[in-house]
Amino acid sequence: MSVFDYSECVNVPAVDSKNRTGKRIAVIPGDGIGKEVIPQAVSVIRASGAEIELTEFDWGADRYLRDQTTVPPDGFAMLARDFDAIFVGAFGDPRVKTNVHAKEILLGMRFKMDLYANVRPVHLLDAALCPLKGVEPKDVDFIVLRENTEGVYTDAGGVFKQGTADEIATQEDINTRKGVERIIRYAFQYCEHHTKLDGSPRNKVLMCDKSNAMTHAGSLWQRVFKEVSAEYSQITAQHMYVDALCMQMVRDPRQFDVIVTNNMFGDIITDLAAGLQGGLGMAASGDIHPGRTSMFEPVHGSAPPIAGKDMANPFGAILTAAMMLRHLEFHQEADKIEAAVLEAVRAKKTTPDIGGSLGTMEAGEWVAHKVGS
Ligand code: NAI
Ligand code: MG
Repeated sequence: MSVFDYSECVNVPAVDSKNRTGKRIAVIPGDGIGKEVIPQAVSVIRASGAEIELTEFDWGADRYLRDQTTVPPDGFAMLARDFDAIFVGAFGDPRVKTNVHAKEILLGMRFKMDLYANVRPVHLLDAALCPLKGVEPKDVDFIVLRENTEGVYTDAGGVFKQGTADEIATQEDINTRKGVERIIRYAFQYCEHHTKLDGSPRNKVLMCDKSNAMTHAGSLWQRVFKEVSAEYSQITAQHMYVDALCMQMVRDPRQFDVIVTNNMFGDIITDLAAGLQGGLGMAASGDIHPGRTSMFEPVHGSAPPIAGKDMANPFGAILTAAMMLRHLEFHQEADKIEAAVLEAVRAKKTTPDIGGSLGTMEAGEWVAHKVGS
């Protein structure tokens, strides 16, 4: 059904690091601007003083073009066994037209390591970054939880009579009871255990779907959402169709708190949400399976048009690094990094996409210096 071979699917619990304070992180910069922003974020992690051991891997287009390797044998099991977290840039290179390496590395990691919760915080650091008028940082403070292992991204489907006038292409939308339930439950638990940036409690979970048109999968999501929400009487359960949600997100982002949705809608609405934060260069994300080695990656891709030009905004990657450190319980270090990025934004020590005039390296170095001082 799917091209993914799950025989090497890893169910290895996270590395047992209870007896050491230091954590091990695998770093995979990947392609394009991933190779520029990740080194900056790594310098910032080092400057934070977190007790971390970093090991870099060259998985990506260059390696694939050199020796046809996408993921080395035992690669995912090794990551799960030997590391506390994985820090990833982006994959996608115009020289690899099939994008096979990105599929095998990135989707492989998400699917085979079963990193089912893609956590994407949407925070506005400064009013100047938001294209909407009259919107302040306190108005944009929500989280999107995207199902990360199913949906239309499982590669189920096929092409029949390719290249003929009768060609048929199918792309299946896979939704399992287990997969839908665990991401919805994660959303309610997330809401229960996290506060807003101003310290007030989170208290709303909104499920976003297209159940009016995609009735089979939509019905499963609707039923599970109703069941799970009944267990959380203190949390308000809400629903919106994805098209209406897109409109509301640009009309009034204040109304959102925790949003839970499927793989494709989550992908799309988080690029839209990134627009509220200052663009793709500002958006962070984590791919989480509680209790297992999880992965952290900025929302943006490899951005070929700006790659190699020292223009890419490193802050999405740096904020992703802070999110990873927080996940590993380095709270003070994460706080320091987030504060330094905020200061950089306010002082316009940024790349041009958010109004500054620094290069990737200068912007990264400015933040690293602040964090280390
Ligand atoms: P993209 O996110 O790479 O870039 C879209 C545009 O947004 C860029 O051309 C640039 O103008 C801007 N942008 C993105 N990140 C930026 C940053 N850090 N600083 C400043 N501007 C930034 O998305 P696109 O163009 O759709 O995809 C390019 C390649 O990346 C494709 O091969 C795609 O498959 C891949 N991709 C990989 C992802 C991943 O590895 N997680 C996610 C999205 C796309
Ligand atoms: Mg995307």
